[in-house]
Amino acid sequence: MFYRNILRPVLFRRDSEEIHDFTLSQLGWVSRNPLLLSTLESFLKPAPLPLDLWGLRFPNPVGLAAGMDKHAAALPAWSAMGFGFCELGGVTWHPQPGNPRPRMFRALADGALINRMGFNNSGALAMADTLAHWKEKKLWPGHPVGVNLGKSKITPLNEAPHDYTESFKALRDWVDFFVVNVSSPNTPNLRQLQDKEALQEILHSIQSLNLDGKRPPKPLLVKVAPDLTPTALDEIAELVSPCSLSGIVATNTTIHRPPASGAKLQQIYTETGGLSGRPLKKRSTEVVRHLYRATGGKLPIIGVGGIFNAEDAWEKITAGASLVQVYSGLVYEGPQLARRIVEGLSFRLELEGLPTLNSAIGIAAGK
Ligand code: FNR
Repeated sequence: MFYRNILRPVLFRRDSEEIHDFTLSQLGWVSRNPLLLSTLESFLKPAPLPLDLWGLRFPNPVGLAAGMDKHAAALPAWSAMGFGFCELGGVTWHPQPGNPRPRMFRALADGALINRMGFNNSGALAMADTLAHWKEKKLWPGHPVGVNLGKSKITPLNEAPHDYTESFKALRDWVDFFVVNVSSPNTPNLRQLQDKEALQEILHSIQSLNLDGKRPPKPLLVKVAPDLTPTALDEIAELVSPCSLSGIVATNTTIHRPPASGAKLQQIYTETGGLSGRPLKKRSTEVVRHLYRATGGKLPIIGVGGIFNAEDAWEKITAGASLVQVYSGLVYEGPQLARRIVEGLSFRLELEGLPTLNSAIGIAAGK
């Protein structure tokens, strides 16, 4: 209530990215101070709702989605804020500034965001340095950490496998899992890499390093767009086995716009970029359900898109997601979101008489 009625109206008077940067710098400051971290934790950390996947223990199934912490600036804070895992980045091999500002917009009445950030980040090597810093300072969080890999803008599409693989190489020793992002609408032609052959080349290139037997392999996932046709989703599902994929993240932002109720929304919806938040919820759940069925319920799916409360997360899990992530929900609902979702999920499991989270996955996916 405090966030929605008092803090949010103040924050939302300023430019979206400005507030994002301010918040991240505050959380970065908290992250460097163990006393502040444990204070945050005492307010925001929920009771565990654990889940084991890929040989990793997730304290709960609610994660921070890619794009929120592109530089790992506040890595220790996400666990203190109650998240069960986080996906850092998107990171690219070459450092790049992203698109010109403004490039992030709120559609308040719909609980949505539009962004065309274009992978603004300091590059994979800088990310590795930051991660080394958190390890050295013994501030590494107690939950799994993943990295979202994007393609550098200057790299032509046919050199994408090398670009992704270089980032993987720089970061493989630092994090627990990787997500190959071929679904951002904000890098020219990136989504063409969702085509079966192009994607296969990227995945083979990364896996030839990942599975070289010299070090323990890292789970490798692919993140898909909500705008893919069922056939295109099936083609990606067909790559799971030959490319030793560990999972799929569904979904990224959409290029589609919902009908706008009013001139203000209509104007915001003319902005170029990917739409996230409430209007994405239904479509991303459909993609989760489709992929769950296409993979016979055997492949772990991370469900993301329009999750604002425990009910939304429950919908994704029962449609087939093993884990969920939030971005826009955090912007609109505030810092207690992860705790509220985890507590709501625990309550729901009890209500349904289900013993574990695992027993809820896919129960509403249908045949
Ligand atoms: C994102 N998202 C995103 N995804 C990704 O794979 N790599 C990235 O770098 C980013 N960057 C990014 C920036 C901003 C400003 C937003 C709003 C989103 C997409 C994000 O991870 C998620 O898939 C979507 O936002 C849908 O989830 P929500 O926001 O509806 O919870």
